[in-house]
Amino acid sequence: MKKQTKKHRIAILASGSGSNAGKFISYFRDHQTISVVLVVSNNASAFVLQRAANAGVPSVVLPRQAWEEKKKVLALFDSYQVNTIVLAGYMRLLPPWMTERYSGRIFNIHPALLPDFGGKGMYGMHVHRAVIESGVRRSGITVHLVNERYDEGPILFQKQIDVLPGDTPETLSKKIKQLEHENYPRVVEEYLGALPLIRQY
Ligand code: GRF
Repeated sequence: MKKQTKKHRIAILASGSGSNAGKFISYFRDHQTISVVLVVSNNASAFVLQRAANAGVPSVVLPRQAWEEKKKVLALFDSYQVNTIVLAGYMRLLPPWMTERYSGRIFNIHPALLPDFGGKGMYGMHVHRAVIESGVRRSGITVHLVNERYDEGPILFQKQIDVLPGDTPETLSKKIKQLEHENYPRVVEEYLGALPLIRQY
């Protein structure tokens, strides 16, 4: 039997375009201890599936009802020996049996400085609009561990940028997306580097 190398094996969960997912796939392509082994979307028409296909990464669509079958979902993750989850624009809350099982190994990125501008309904342009409307002078990105509530897990990393007088939700969104791409894979790499390499759950 082929010996299974121990690695951090990432499943990326994404609902939309997947530009962050794309960055993860390229960043970890030839990495010694970390690989992206699966892309999961709840949305069959999400562009992230196309990105995965182009990069040769297996993908699967798990719509809302599929998550009701706990055993099947876990068997799927186990069949790819997933031991780490990266949320990258994933629009649904993970069930508690996922957050418990992968506790400490599920990451999310939020396009603002949590705990402000987070929580249910705070995603995408809603966040940037709220930031601009509030008049705050700084926004940024937050990488955090995921628990069973939206945007509430321990914060691992934040980076701030100035909100300039002429900024609109659109200009802010562009700058923040850029920051995400530059930092998210690197922060996850650094954090995983401090965790033991395991075979699977
Ligand atoms: C990102 O802005 C991230 O902060 C949020 O969802 C967005 C996903 O964008 N959680 P993309 O699909 O990676 O382009």
